[in-house]
Amino acid sequence: MIGIFDSGIGGVTVFREILKELPNYQYLYYSDSFNNPYGDKSEEELKIITNNICKYLVNNGCKIIVIACNTASAICKDYLRDNFEIPIIAIEPAIKMVYDNSYDGKTLVLATKGTINSNKFKELYQKYDNHKSIIYECRGLADLIEQDKKKEIREYLIEHLINFKDMQNVVLGCTHYPLIKDEIKEVLGEVIFYDGSKGIVKELKRKIQDINLKEEEPKIIFWDSSHKLEKEKRFYQILELEK
Ligand code: DGL
Repeated sequence: MIGIFDSGIGGVTVFREILKELPNYQYLYYSDSFNNPYGDKSEEELKIITNNICKYLVNNGCKIIVIACNTASAICKDYLRDNFEIPIIAIEPAIKMVYDNSYDGKTLVLATKGTINSNKFKELYQKYDNHKSIIYECRGLADLIEQDKKKEIREYLIEHLINFKDMQNVVLGCTHYPLIKDEIKEVLGEVIFYDGSKGIVKELKRKIQDINLKEEEPKIIFWDSSHKLEKEKRFYQILELEK
């Protein structure tokens, strides 16, 4: 079994990519909507929260854990890797993808406060800055997406992104943001989106080989920490699967 977690429904955008390439495994998705948003939490709080989630995933038979949350990855991945013996794979904002594929493109990097203020993000940015990037902290946006507040999302994007109409690239540095690509395009027009999910799929394939995890009868288990039924409905909708 492979465990995946996020502060809610955002990590499903990562899980969706994983399932396309690795359908024949068993997955346990932990949606921590009770603690959403992670983006404004302190390092100490996040370490406690994510440590408990990893314990839960390990106790339920997971052999690999995927942190499908940029904030938790940036702040907690080293700590979690020190605490658990199984492989822990962590997503990161796709800044290197822009560096490799569109170095000359004006780029808007959107992420949470937690991600942007982390040392991991600063290191990544220093290494792969294309010198045409603007980093923008989207405080409260993941929360609106988690709650599926469509009207407020549109208003938020108009208020915050209207001055970035000249951007070519947009890095979606929070796993909730791929769920609102269409709404972002309504404000910015045609842009190229980059997110870390493709990279994480490659990394997961490598780890599966390393630990020789055999293919299994496919199975998906969904767990939401706030026990809200609509979360599970949304989970399957995003995956485009029937429950
Ligand atoms: N989806 C998360 C991320 O990738 C966290 C958003 C939040 O809870 O603030 O950063």
